[in-house]
Parts: sequence; C-alpha cells; structure tokens
Amino acid sequence: MALSRTAARTIWRRAFSPVRPVRALEAEPWIIDELTVGSREIAVRGWALPPIRPAPGAAFLVNDNRPASIEYPLPRPDVGHAFWRRDRSGDSGFRLVARPVGEPYPGGILRVSRPRASPASPEAGRDHWCYPDPARHADLPDENRRFRVIGNRDATGFLSTGCTDHFRLDRACRALFGHGLAQGGRVLDWGVGCGRIARHLLAADPDADLVGCDIDRDNVEWCAGHLPGGRFVPSDLRPPLPFPDGHFQVVYGGRFTHLRAPLEALWLEELRRVLSPGGIALVTVHGATALEFMALAPDQWLTMRDRIDDEGLVESSPNSQLVGFVPNPEEYVNVFHSRRHITRSWRRHFDIVRILPGYVFTHDLVVVRRR
Ligand SMILES: C[S@@+](CC[C@H](N)C(=O)[O-])C[C@H]1O[C@@H](n2cnc3c(N)ncnc32)[C@H](O)[C@@H]1O
Repeated sequence: MALSRTAARTIWRRAFSPVRPVRALEAEPWIIDELTVGSREIAVRGWALPPIRPAPGAAFLVNDNRPASIEYPLPRPDVGHAFWRRDRSGDSGFRLVARPVGEPYPGGILRVSRPRASPASPEAGRDHWCYPDPARHADLPDENRRFRVIGNRDATGFLSTGCTDHFRLDRACRALFGHGLAQGGRVLDWGVGCGRIARHLLAADPDADLVGCDIDRDNVEWCAGHLPGGRFVPSDLRPPLPFPDGHFQVVYGGRFTHLRAPLEALWLEELRRVLSPGGIALVTVHGATALEFMALAPDQWLTMRDRIDDEGLVESSPNSQLVGFVPNPEEYVNVFHSRRHITRSWRRHFDIVRILPGYVFTHDLVVVRRR
C-alpha cells in the first residue's frame, strides 16, 4: 500500500528528529511573574530560558543597574513541565532584589532587562520588560474591555504587556529602518482594542499621527473618549478599511493570529493598499514559540508541529473573547503559521523584511514592506 506524502514525511520526521531537549531556540522566552515596587526595594520573580552562561547573575539589570541580589537558577518544576523540550528548563527560575538609586520609574517606566543580543539588533527588544508608572495610567478601561483584548482581567499585566509590546515594536523599527514606530509618518494601529499598546505610543510620542481602528465599537469609543492625541474609528471584519490608498507609512497589529486563510489573503492585500510604497507593517502570528507555550505533551506537540509544517496555516481552536461585541464572532479563531507559509504566501503581497520569533510575548513578529 502506498503511503501518502504527508504520512511518509511524518514517519521520516519522527524517526530522524526525535523529541529531545534542545539547548537554545532562537526565541528563548523569559517571563516576569511578579514585580513588587517599594521606594527602597524592587523585587522581581520570574523565569528565563535557557540558563544564562557563562556568568549567570551578571546578565540581569533593573533600570540598567545590576540588582543588589540575584538568585539564579532556581527550581521551576512548572516551567520544566511545560517546556519539556528545553534543556534544564526546570532550573530557570530567578529572583532579583534591586535598591533604586533615584525614582523606581525613571522617565515613567521601570525596565527589567536580560541583555543577550547586541543592543543595536532588532532581537535586542526581546531582552527587556517594561513597567509603566501606574500613577500615570490611572484612567484604565474596565476589566471586561481589557478581557476582550488579552483574555484576562489583570490590570498590571495590561499595562506592562502594552508598554513592553510598544517598546519592542519601537526597537525593531529603529533597528530595521532607523526610525521609531511613530516617526516614519502616519501610523495605523489595526485592531487597536482598548488601546493597550496605543496608550504607550501616545505617551512616548505625543505628536504621533496615530489612527486606531477595530471591529469592537465599544472599545473604539472608549479609546476616542480616553486617549487624547489619537484618532479612533470603527472598521469591519472584512476589508475595506475606511482609509484611502497609500494613507499610512506604518501599520502595526496582531490580527493574523486570528484569521483563516481566505480572510488572511484579503487582509494582506488591504494592508498593502492602505500603505504607501515603501511603507511597513509589523504584525504578529502564532509560530513555534506560541506552540511551546501551549505546554502540550510530546505526542500532541509533534502532531501539531507536523500539521503546521504541512498545512502552513492551521486553525487550532475557536476564540470566544469577542462574543456579544462583534457581528460574526465565529470568524475570530486561533491560528498557527509555519515560517514557510509566511515566506511563500505573504511574499505575493509584500517583501518579507524579518521574522522575529517570540518577540511579542508568545507571538512571532513579522515585519514586511510594501514594494
Ligand atoms: C488580541 S486583541 C489585541 C488588541 C490590541 N491591539 C492589543 O494589543 O491589546 C485583537 C483585536 O483585534 C480586533 N479585530 C479582530 N478582527 C479584526 C478586524 N478584521 N479588523 C480590525 N480589528 C479586528 C479585535 O476586536 C481585538 O480588539
């Protein structure tokens, strides 16, 4: 009996690329679980993969200074369980204590860093987590609005992930194009939600020419009433966007984590239309890092990885976060991308400038440019 091409490939992969611990993947996620800020002490707890060598402690910084104490590596059986593919992932915990020299939020942002990449490289953005001063962000959307964009109700996480995502996008833009996210011209936050990232862009660049759009009209109205300096407009699940051709020089957003193939192709073409020639888009997808964060058992992980490799774009699960707030919420699903799918099928619409795994939390960042 002849084997199908996919079945043959799966057997070959399982025979010759066994599931074994790997020392370092490009994404190397590291996460902060807890930050406590006092006037005399900043305490940080988290985990970092893979173990830092050769001098573990030297690599952590708080506000660019070496903390007073660094405990690393510490046991983290939960991380070891989830990241079973990673060598010594069960010993990835860290605890830092820093004594702030000046204010804990210099310039409004506290930064915890684990410098790994060369500071001028796009990858270096991944080496920092940013915590904005909560006193400067008292006017937050309520927890239901926040839930619809990040799937949880944690206010600190809403602020720190938004600030960190903005910092990393800005860093990638500077490293690849020589200007910040808001300095290349008119910017579109496509799928702005309740402004989790936009609020930090406007805080960093009050003169930014920023437009945000979303299918969630309630969140768009919230942004319009609470984020001065930006312009916020409702848009539809399907193209077109309510903007003329070539209107933007920069687009950022993460919708490709939630679109099936037919909608993906329509939106790639629409983003191309609203960008001016040479304009850039920074968008996110679920790639290898997101698959690791699913903490699947080895067999399930292999099956899913093979499916993604074979199919290119795989719908993994429904997503109910927008039920009750948008028409056709069933169109909003979770999808995974293979790198090859992006380099092959997105190339029809754009030049692919860079794919940065695990750059925006668990998402990969895809940077493309209009020809
Ligand atoms: C994961 S949330 C992210 C929101 C925001 N960018 C952030 O980072 O917090 C995805 C957002 O995309 C919006 N969205 C989904 N499909 C969209 C579409 N076709 N056009 C515009 N926005 C869309 C959703 O309503 C939701 O606010």
